[in-house]
Amino acid sequence: MNNTILMVGAGSYLPEKVLTNDDLSAFVDTDDAWIKQRTGIHQRHMVADGELTSDMAVAAANDALSAAGLTSDDIDIIIVATTTPDDTFPSTASTVQHKLGSYQAFAFDIQAVCAGFIYALGVGESLLRSGKGRRALIIGAESFTKILDWSDRTTCVLFGDGAGAVVLEVADTPAQDWGVLSTVLHTDGRYRDILYVDGGPSSSKTVGHVRMRGQDVFKHAVEKLSSSMNEVIADAGHTPTDIDWLIPHQANIRIIDGIQKKLGLPPEKVVKTVAQHANTSAASIPLALSAATRDGRVKSGHLLAFEAIGGGLSWGASLVRYGRP
Ligand code: ACO
Repeated sequence: MNNTILMVGAGSYLPEKVLTNDDLSAFVDTDDAWIKQRTGIHQRHMVADGELTSDMAVAAANDALSAAGLTSDDIDIIIVATTTPDDTFPSTASTVQHKLGSYQAFAFDIQAVCAGFIYALGVGESLLRSGKGRRALIIGAESFTKILDWSDRTTCVLFGDGAGAVVLEVADTPAQDWGVLSTVLHTDGRYRDILYVDGGPSSSKTVGHVRMRGQDVFKHAVEKLSSSMNEVIADAGHTPTDIDWLIPHQANIRIIDGIQKKLGLPPEKVVKTVAQHANTSAASIPLALSAATRDGRVKSGHLLAFEAIGGGLSWGASLVRYGRP
């Protein structure tokens, strides 16, 4: 069994429409200063009418494939992490497979809300490690603005839409300390009521809206994410000082800064996109990674640390040596 699963490309897509904090304050009782000070968010992107989660996922996937020097024919597995699928079924991943024309690939969705990308990465890595394919597309895609209650200022200012993707590839020859080095996944359903959607096919036959006890989520986030980070760093035989880039879930600048301080990392080693993208749930990590590969910060050979938490509560972390050796 080959034991190196490389991450060989990243891509992203953001809808054209931008909603600034000032735009929001025209119809919600909020203001730019409050949102910036409490969250670090300046603006968010928003899907156009008729633009679907699968459309954004396909655009991000094509961008990642081109970054990896591959085509849709090269993919054996497609995993879409999303909480805002096109429809209740079939999976958004099936639609993505069809739109990409990757009929040789099997495809399915993963639902772990804001932790979805880490979960999809962990599952994709395991499938490749167990010989179920050579390459996997791991996509996070969200139309989160579709499940917001625009009269609830405690949630509607926090989220945005977008998609990001990475390509995982089984290395031809095992390469020590390259690729996905360690991933941990955690869930604690006792906290399901601090962040949830008040609807669903089985409970109400509706889509529902996001509900959140923000301060409770905040407390869990810093503690659980820094301990997951420490788990993967130790498991991979590294120390925090080895990390080239922390690429965290982009929920709130204060959570990101709190984790950076707990890990003892210099602030300039953290990729932050929360100001421009807001919280795009499962899309936020690959969107941030893609921004940092595109502008040249993240290079092949860099050690990347990912972490995310979301409804469930579900959370996890991953340590990856990016690129091809
Ligand atoms: N604009 C203006 N005022 C607001 C707004 C708003 N958008 N929202 C809340 N307020 C008010 C509240 O009503 C409250 O007023 P009061 O004191 O008169 O009662 C005051 O601001 C303070 O509210 P708090 O909830 O105490 O504000 P806090 O500093 O905790 O910030 C926030 C709220 C931003 C939600 C914060 O708790 C947080 O970021 N939590 C993490 C949750 C998160 O990021 N969730 C995303 C999904 S999960 C994830 O991805 C990690």
